[in-house]
Amino acid sequence: MDKLIRIDNLHKSFYDGDTELKVLKGVNLDIHQAEVLAIMGASGVGKSTLLHIIGTLDRPTEGNIFYEDEDITAFSERELTRFRNDAIGFVFQFHQLLPEFTALENVAMSGLIRNTRKVENKNGNRYSSDAYEKAEILLESVGLSERLGHFPSQLSGGERQRVAIARALVNQPKVVLADEPTGNIDDKTSEAVLDVLQDINERLKQTFIIVTHDSRLSERANRTVHLVDGKIAD
Ligand SMILES: Nc1ncnc2c1ncn2[C@@H]1O[C@H](COP(=O)(O)OP(=O)(O)O)[C@@H](O)[C@H]1O
Ligand SMILES: [Mg+2]
Repeated sequence: MDKLIRIDNLHKSFYDGDTELKVLKGVNLDIHQAEVLAIMGASGVGKSTLLHIIGTLDRPTEGNIFYEDEDITAFSERELTRFRNDAIGFVFQFHQLLPEFTALENVAMSGLIRNTRKVENKNGNRYSSDAYEKAEILLESVGLSERLGHFPSQLSGGERQRVAIARALVNQPKVVLADEPTGNIDDKTSEAVLDVLQDINERLKQTFIIVTHDSRLSERANRTVHLVDGKIAD
């Protein structure tokens, strides 16, 4: 399999005055094109910290991350923002949908920046019609074609999480990063969310990195690694 991401000797410390909290202490990890990688580890071990750094939302204290051999740790803030918008989709534990927008609008909005053909919705907001079409197709693919006009408050936890997955896919990212995507929903709903992830991976060859302490999730992954004491355990 082709290598998509290479993480080389990644360290991350947080500082409180003179006190250094060493969270990541030399993480080495390769992520391959089209795989679902689960990163497991106890609460507080640094899973979210690692995912944020892979997602360019935070910078490492030391070490490098290469996307297709390009060292993104050398990027400026402006380059990082552009790279993040183009290349990375995020799914968080708490879906973070915008409450005043419908499922369709939440998904379409992420695709709005890059498209020029605009249409106006009933609230007077302007969207790309391409983004709308794409959002509709993606919501269908996560089993929500009957929920396009629903607001987040009118959806179940699992449905909201599936909207969040559709939203993460709208710009065809190189990788989707998911932080405890089943952390806030019940077992049965989690299975439906995992079904969707697996289906998208198989059909679209979408690469996923999922951090979790849910062992059921790792059963669905192509590969599972464990974060222990700031490193990937052997
Ligand atoms: N921005 C921050 N400032 C200071 N400490 C942080 C920050 N983010 C995370 N930490 C600390 O780093 C450790 C790892 O946190 P986190 O990555 O959220 O763990 P996990 O996601 O595995 O539960 C924790 O001790 C946490 O308190
Ligand atoms: Mg976390």
